[in-house]
Amino acid sequence: MADLQQLELDAVARIGAAADLSALEGLRVEFLGKQGSVSALLKTLGGMSPDERQSQGPLINGLRQSVSDAITARKAALEAAELEAKLAGETIDLTLPAPDSARGSVHPVSQVMDELAEIFADMGFAVATGPEIEDDWRNFTALNIPETHPARAMHDTFYFPDEKRAGPAAGPGEGGRMLLRTHTSPVQIRTMTAQEPPIRIIAPGRVYRSDSDATHTPMFHQIEGLVIDKGINLGHLKWTLETFLRAFFERDDVVLRLRPSYFPFTEPSVEVDVGYTVIKGKRVIGGSEGWMEVLGSGMVNRKVIEACGLDPDEWQGFAFGTGVDRLAMLKYGMDDLRAFFDGDIRWLRHYGFAALDVPTLSGGVGA
Ligand code: PHE
Repeated sequence: MADLQQLELDAVARIGAAADLSALEGLRVEFLGKQGSVSALLKTLGGMSPDERQSQGPLINGLRQSVSDAITARKAALEAAELEAKLAGETIDLTLPAPDSARGSVHPVSQVMDELAEIFADMGFAVATGPEIEDDWRNFTALNIPETHPARAMHDTFYFPDEKRAGPAAGPGEGGRMLLRTHTSPVQIRTMTAQEPPIRIIAPGRVYRSDSDATHTPMFHQIEGLVIDKGINLGHLKWTLETFLRAFFERDDVVLRLRPSYFPFTEPSVEVDVGYTVIKGKRVIGGSEGWMEVLGSGMVNRKVIEACGLDPDEWQGFAFGTGVDRLAMLKYGMDDLRAFFDGDIRWLRHYGFAALDVPTLSGGVGA
């Protein structure tokens, strides 16, 4: 019995002194493992006389229990200490000075897209998106640009190999050749076929045309606008564009000029110019000394509304589309579009925007 007490004292003392979890695990095996000393004592119970067993049983079991309790307690203590040490090591020293300047900046294209989303959200427009790999039906046919239409050639389309055709879901009764969308207008089709009017959306995104010079890159960004409702007319279009362009350029003297034009998917179609004034040899938006084309628009063609399964006698609307990169160039004064996509860190430092400076109508949508 004295042996058992001594064994318990020793075991508990060694367990209490275990330096870490792996040392503790070693002790657990030593005492309670299959070949462990306490386990061996438990096994002796089987060979005892009933009397012996009655006196020794509780003692040996008590020993096993205290060793096991000691291990549990030590384990909890070691784990708590380990967590404590980890937390202490991860402390942020708030007394250290901040970096000299903020790192990284928001690309002007992202900035302008955020500005546009903010301006149109205020007018009740939701943001819609569509895939950049589009089918022929949504990019052209449903927009009243049939196969033989010269506008197809004008778009300098990147087509995928002919075998990659869209399934029957691409449009009523036809599969379509796949292509990189040449404009954001297919999102008009996607929206009209997916949701019931009234519709008020803008759709910003990448578009692709096989074209490249100082003002054209094979990939660029557009933003589409679409309103479908009852009794919509050209006046609504003009007010919307005027409100948008004044908010975007942050000037009340933005003057618009609407010129008759042609797009297969709008009828009538209007091209929109903004007036500028020349100040110290530079064109500044505002006034009407000269005109710059900024977007294409018009009343949604009846044929497009029909292609989307809506009744054009019930629903009318307007649509517009414009180049996001071009808007950025006009507002922030860059002159070479190619620089937008060069990834030159010096250009980004110069033209980029502070990451935490989110555009808001109240705080200013610009820089
Ligand atoms: N999709 C036309 C383009 O890329 C722009 C546009 C959109 C014109 C909507 C009218 C209405 O040139």
